Amino acid sequence: MGPKWLKDAVFYEIYPQSFQDSNDDGIGDLQGIIRRLDYVSELGCNALWINPCFDSPFMDAGYDVRDYKQVAPRYGTNGDLIQLFEEAHRRGIHVLLDLVPGHTSDQHPWFKESAKADPNEYSARYVWTDEALWGMEGRPYIAGMTERSGAYMLNFFASQPALNYGWLHVTKHWMSAMDSPEALATREAIKDVMRFWLDAGCDGFRVDMADSLVKNDDERKSGTAAIWRDIRAMMDDEYPNAALVSEWSNPVLALCDAGFHMDFYLDHQCNGYNTLLRDYETEGGDHSYFRCDAGGDIKRFLQDYLPKYEQSRESGYISFITCNHDTPRPARTLSAAELKLAYAFILTMPGVPFIYYGDEIGMRYLDLRTKEGGYQRTGTRTPMQWENSVNKGFSNAPSDQLYLPVDESDDAPCVEEQLVDADSLLSETRRLVALRHAYEDLQADAPFAVVNDDEVEAPFVYRRGGMVLAVNPSSAEKRFEGDELLGKELVYQIGAARVTDGCLTMPGQSFAVLA
Ligand code: NOJ
Repeated sequence: MGPKWLKDAVFYEIYPQSFQDSNDDGIGDLQGIIRRLDYVSELGCNALWINPCFDSPFMDAGYDVRDYKQVAPRYGTNGDLIQLFEEAHRRGIHVLLDLVPGHTSDQHPWFKESAKADPNEYSARYVWTDEALWGMEGRPYIAGMTERSGAYMLNFFASQPALNYGWLHVTKHWMSAMDSPEALATREAIKDVMRFWLDAGCDGFRVDMADSLVKNDDERKSGTAAIWRDIRAMMDDEYPNAALVSEWSNPVLALCDAGFHMDFYLDHQCNGYNTLLRDYETEGGDHSYFRCDAGGDIKRFLQDYLPKYEQSRESGYISFITCNHDTPRPARTLSAAELKLAYAFILTMPGVPFIYYGDEIGMRYLDLRTKEGGYQRTGTRTPMQWENSVNKGFSNAPSDQLYLPVDESDDAPCVEEQLVDADSLLSETRRLVALRHAYEDLQADAPFAVVNDDEVEAPFVYRRGGMVLAVNPSSAEKRFEGDELLGKELVYQIGAARVTDGCLTMPGQSFAVLA
C-alpha cells in the first residue's frame, strides 16, 4: 500500500497564487506558505499538495509548464521551495508537488525544438503527424503554426501540446510505439524531473491527467497503466517513502492497474461523490445528500462508491476532497451547518482525505471573469481570508493589484474570527481532524461497512473498524436501534445526538461517533 505515513495523512491543498503574499506584489508565494505552516499544522493537516509552482507563461495557471526544474519567479526560487520542504518536515508535514506529465507549455524549450523543421533530439518528444495539411482524426490538434510540417496533438488547452509516450495501437507510420526509443525517452525525461524534486526533498506528486499518457489506449488504459507501474517501480526502489496521487477518478484502474497510492474521487457529474455535495446539475433540482432540505439519498453515493472501494481497497486509497481548484467550492450550495456534516463524513471515510484551502472556513465561490485559463474555476481560486483587515490579511498590495479579488462581502468568513468561535466551521474541522488522528479506526485502512442505509426513519449508519458512526443531514429527528450499539459510547457528536437503552436518537442535522 505504499508509504506508511499515508495511513494517518490528512492533506491540505494550497493554490500558491492565493494563499499568502509575503512580498506585497499581490500574488501568493512560497515564503507566504512557509509563514502559514503553523496554521496548517494547527488545523491538524500533516501533508500538503501544492498546485504547480514552476516556470510557466500561465495560460493555464501553471499547468502549462515551461521549465519543470525551475520555480516560477513570482513564487520565489528553488531555494525557497527547498526551505519550504525543510520547514514543513520540521512540523511533521509531507509535501507533494504537482507533476504535469501529459503536456508542457508550447513555450517549453523541448517544444520549441520539436517545432523546428530540422530533425533534432526533441522532434519526437511530442505527438506530431507528418503533414500539416491533414489533422489527427477526431483528436484536438494544431497545424500551420510551426516551421515543421505537421500537426501536433493537444492534451488540454491550445497552449498545451501532448508529450509523446507512444500509441498502444500503431496504425499510421508517424505514430510511435510505446517501446520506441522516442517514447521511452519521454518517460525517462519525466522520471528525471521526478528525481530532481524528490532529491531536493519533496515527498511525492499529485499527478495531473494521469490517464492521458498513451494515445489510442484501450478501455482499461493498459498502455498508460504500464508506464505508471514502471514509474512506481522506480519509486519503490529509489524513493520508497514518496507518494503518488492520481487525477484519474477511477480507482480500479488507477490503484489496481497503474499502481498509484491514492486516486481522487472527483466531481464528475452525478457520480457518487458529487451526489454528496454538489448535485445541482441533476434534473429535478439539487438532491445533494448533505443539503438538509434536498431529500438526498445516500444509496446514490453507495451504489457508485461501494464497488469501487471493494475492488480497490487492497491496492490503494480513494481520496475524498472537500473541493479542489477545478470545482465549485462546496459553500456555493451548502450552509456552514451542512458543511460540518459533509466534512464529518469526508474525514471519517477510508482512504486519504484532502481539504482545499479555505474550505475549512467555508470560503465562497465568487462569480468572476476568467484569470489564467480558469474560466468558471476562477471563482474557487480567490485569496485566502485570514483576518478582517486590508485584503483579508492575504497581501499588503493595493487591492486593485491582487492576483484575484478577495471576497469583500461584510460577512465573508475569515480565520481570525472562526478561531475564537467554538461553533465555527473551522473549529469543527479542527476537532474532526483531531478525532481522525486519535482513532486508528477512522484512518485510511480500517474497513468501511454500511450498517443502515434505509433512511426513511433512521440516520445513515456506518462502521469503521470497531467504531459506529451515524449522520443525519435532514432536518427531521431520526432513530436507530441495533446490536451494533451495544456497549458503545458517544465519543464525538455534532448536534445533540444521544444513546439511551440501545437506541441512538439523532436530531436534525447531527453526527455521532460511537466507540
Ligand atoms: C487538471 C488540472 O487540475 C487543471 O487545473 C488543468 O487545467 C488541467 N488538468 C490541464 O493540465
